[in-house]
Amino acid sequence: APATAETVYITADRLLDVRSGSMVARPAVLVEDGRVARVGTVSDLPAPQGATRIDLPGLTLLPGLIDMHVHLTSRHDLHGYRRLTRNATDLAIDGVVNARTTLEAGFTTVRNLGAGSFADVAVKRAVEEGRVPGPRLIVSGPPLSALGGHGDANLLPYDLQREAEGVATGPWALAEKVRYNRKFGADVIKIMATGGVLSKGTEVGAQQLTEEEMAAIVKEAHMLGMKVAAHAHGNAGIKAAIRAGVDTVEHASFLDAEAIALAKKNGTVLSMDVYNTEFILGEGEKAGILPESLAKERTVGQTQRTSFGEAVKAGVKLTFGSDAGVYPHGWNGKQFSRMVKFGMTPLQAIQAATVVAADALGMAEEVGSIAPGRYADMVAVAADPLADISTLEAIPVVIKGGAVVKDAR
Ligand code: ARG
Repeated sequence: APATAETVYITADRLLDVRSGSMVARPAVLVEDGRVARVGTVSDLPAPQGATRIDLPGLTLLPGLIDMHVHLTSRHDLHGYRRLTRNATDLAIDGVVNARTTLEAGFTTVRNLGAGSFADVAVKRAVEEGRVPGPRLIVSGPPLSALGGHGDANLLPYDLQREAEGVATGPWALAEKVRYNRKFGADVIKIMATGGVLSKGTEVGAQQLTEEEMAAIVKEAHMLGMKVAAHAHGNAGIKAAIRAGVDTVEHASFLDAEAIALAKKNGTVLSMDVYNTEFILGEGEKAGILPESLAKERTVGQTQRTSFGEAVKAGVKLTFGSDAGVYPHGWNGKQFSRMVKFGMTPLQAIQAATVVAADALGMAEEVGSIAPGRYADMVAVAADPLADISTLEAIPVVIKGGAVVKDAR
């Protein structure tokens, strides 16, 4: 058939089939209207006449990467009280800048878990309208949180108090927040099930929403076709979140055998930011992170790595979530080598950021693999990523929807 203007023909030296782990030699990918039409080899799938060609000699193709936990509207150099200098417009501008950086790092789909003033919705809209470059975005808007919890505004004293947008008390009030976030453009619901490291006056070990509250949130979100991502460090909060039916547990630092068994039984996906601690403890003080947060991180980091290894061994579903924004955007890929160091095979780490993530998003037909019907989102790397996972830290070529968005060969 003659090629239309929207037909793109991509070749490379190798293509990693992320489901099987096998390498296809001399692959050819045919793209029509931004989606993969056929995948073959240069010999069994020749270039249609008139197709736009993207030839990537010497490189290995794999699907565009997915990060399940970023904060595009946050900056790594503005922690603690420095956060108070930003208004909603600053957040959106930072989001635009960071969206481009993230895309150019090879992450063609990201889930933004927590942004004030729905600035993430604005960034998503600008990307979808093609006005600014960025990954495909799944956004949460403000996180739902207990009063005084990890998602509240706790830096200000009583006389200057402000309550964060996602704060509510009780099952019905929190269910209402789900509707509210959806009304203003949220795709996914982020909840704060326990205290956190970077919030003032919260305990990582303390559960902050009751199981009843979380169940009400999950019921409402699922009724509306939305997934729920729960920030949870402490063991009791992790288990309550899983029992309440959340789809993913973020951080998941203090796992025990029971939490692991529960996650396995319920099919809950864990998203563990195992690089994050290196930045927080190394650079955090300079970036304005509060002393109390640095102290909390010292209790979380190593435990989380151990938990990660145990979860891998037990066969729990694990996806790739970095929490970039705490540390510099574009460094997302550093986490791959840590996932391998703490227990995964390179293929498992790549699957965590492709097929497993796509499944967890409910978007397996759209992203996460180079297969007919999916968006033609791909990255090309110089080394064999199964032999050298750190090649994913510096990705030279990024393709989104069949168009080259970065070529730094
Ligand atoms: N945003 C998270 C929090 O404040 C960061 C936790 C980082 N620490 C870690 N070891 N993963 O709780």
